[in-house]
Amino acid sequence: MISLSSQGAAALQQARAQLAAALRKDSGVDDLLARFDRWGPDLWNGLVGAYDAETVLPRFVELIAQAHRDRSKELRARDMERLLQPDWFQRPEAIGYVAYADRFAGDLAGVQSHIDYLSDLGVTYLHLMPLLEPRPAPNDGGYAVMDYRKVRSDLGTMKNLRELATALHEAGIALTLDLVLNHVAQEHAWAVAARKGDVAKREYFLAYPDRTLPDEYEKSLPEVFPAFAPGNFTWDDSLSAWVWTTFNTWQWDLNWANPDVLCEFADIILFLANQGVDCLRLDAIAFLWKRMGTNCQGEPEVHSITQALRAAARIATPALIFKAEAIVGPDDVVKYLGVGEHAGRISDLAYHNSLMVQIWSAFAMHDARLLTSSLNRFAQIPSTTAWGTYLRCHDDIGWAIDDRDANSQGFDGGSHRAFLAEYYAGEFDGSPSRGAHFQSNPLTGDRRTSGSAASLAGIESALEAHDEAALTLAIDKVLCGYAIVLGFGGIPLIYMGDEIGLLNDYSYVDEPEHAADNRWLHRPMMDWPRAKSAPTSSDYSGRLLRGLTELIEARKDCEALHAATPPEIFHGADSAILVLRRRHPGGTVVQVFNMAGSARELPAESLWPLDTTHLRDLISGSSVSLSGASLRLPAYGTLWLVDTP
Ligand code: GLC
Repeated sequence: MISLSSQGAAALQQARAQLAAALRKDSGVDDLLARFDRWGPDLWNGLVGAYDAETVLPRFVELIAQAHRDRSKELRARDMERLLQPDWFQRPEAIGYVAYADRFAGDLAGVQSHIDYLSDLGVTYLHLMPLLEPRPAPNDGGYAVMDYRKVRSDLGTMKNLRELATALHEAGIALTLDLVLNHVAQEHAWAVAARKGDVAKREYFLAYPDRTLPDEYEKSLPEVFPAFAPGNFTWDDSLSAWVWTTFNTWQWDLNWANPDVLCEFADIILFLANQGVDCLRLDAIAFLWKRMGTNCQGEPEVHSITQALRAAARIATPALIFKAEAIVGPDDVVKYLGVGEHAGRISDLAYHNSLMVQIWSAFAMHDARLLTSSLNRFAQIPSTTAWGTYLRCHDDIGWAIDDRDANSQGFDGGSHRAFLAEYYAGEFDGSPSRGAHFQSNPLTGDRRTSGSAASLAGIESALEAHDEAALTLAIDKVLCGYAIVLGFGGIPLIYMGDEIGLLNDYSYVDEPEHAADNRWLHRPMMDWPRAKSAPTSSDYSGRLLRGLTELIEARKDCEALHAATPPEIFHGADSAILVLRRRHPGGTVVQVFNMAGSARELPAESLWPLDTTHLRDLISGSSVSLSGASLRLPAYGTLWLVDTP
């Protein structure tokens, strides 16, 4: 039950009348009002959590009315489709792909001409990395936006974006874009106006005349980019003030306590939805709300704000969903999908950063115990939401191993994090990895890691050494990682190039804007000759692509992989083997993954409740028999087992 104060009920009644009056002559108004009745309470409760809701609500109603007028017939039909199948992103058929438009295909028109490639792979969801007009480089890979209503000029125009969205929709692919809401480029019109003395616009930012408050805040603030942007405040001469800049000095944090900022973003969100965008990735969402004495991440207001924005979108543009990018610890990340009063009312998707970290950690240790214990500590997520699961993305890997989790396995968190950084930088004896340290922080000893999946797994070093056995192991390791990503439940996000094993791209050092940021190591250009030949090639790209395609096919047919069925997670008697058991009304699946580089065995009891005399592997389609009372798994072997013919 949604609780609503009497003040809220009265305000909503008035807002409803305002909406009905504004749209008297428009089509679809009855549907819109029905949605207002359904999600209005979420909107009110969200606003109340951070603002004077009485004054903000009428402003939201105007934005909703305008967005409704602007919504095309086709997108209104899409709204209906999505409302009828709200679990579209939770379904086993959902397969994500993540790419930079320019590095994938030159520009938006290029992406459009490569839709077939995505369809052949089975992709149903495409996240195109930041493509709204950024400041001139450096711009943090586009995460310093100058204009949210304009496409980066070398990629195309808003019209091209709408055309691309339409073409993707026709191919059954949803479009995700980044919405950077913690900060704007210092060249954004708001910041320019603030510097020119516009008092209202100055209030969009957090600017302090002297160091008193910044120093006080710094006491509890961590540093995101300690190596290239130490500190969280930057002096600006024109403002005569220290401006809050969590990330780079030219990324100005916004003052979300100002309701004008909220309304600007509500407007931008509805505008982007009306271009045909299906999902917005809420970049760095944890950082929105600042509170003295805290690390200024994940404050309660963040969730209230997300709830208000989502409710507005549910009402005006309901085909739109949100994905939270909150790279925070296990206890906190679940909150972005909603706990307590926010359950199921905020982001629909959230990145499962811990799963990614734990997969790489388990590979390095040949052991799944830390992975199982830490994933089992996660609270259940609302049944209407899903994880975005991934093995690699455009960012570095922060070794977010929780100290308590490490202690529960008998080792020290700090030492394990240091081990992982060294292992994946190839500095540990026997490590086949070719990663690089990112943002070493001498104060905390923290080091993060850059590198592509293929290079981290050992494909690069095996190729160089012409070591066929090592190459096979590395390929199987990537496939095992992806089998977990595809088999965990939630939308798997394939990072561009992983399907053909693109290696580290060392040429980033030749580009002045990229040279200082080694995350470009794992942001290569798409290798189209390699991609084109992969389906029939016997090289590592072909082997990876065929393996991944098999996994995608298997996933699509497996109803038990619906995100609303969470897996039971445990490890075998041999702790290298990870087991995910999914008991779904449509049939049980037991997935087994060998995280070690040597063959291991799993006792038959671990496959309960399957009938082990009739086992079949969904990935290969073949029947599987035990050897004695155990199941034998080759190095990095993966099986998704059922007991039906
Ligand atoms: C997100 C992005 C990252 C960027 C940061 C600041 O974490 O993924 O690439 O540097 O936000 O916008």
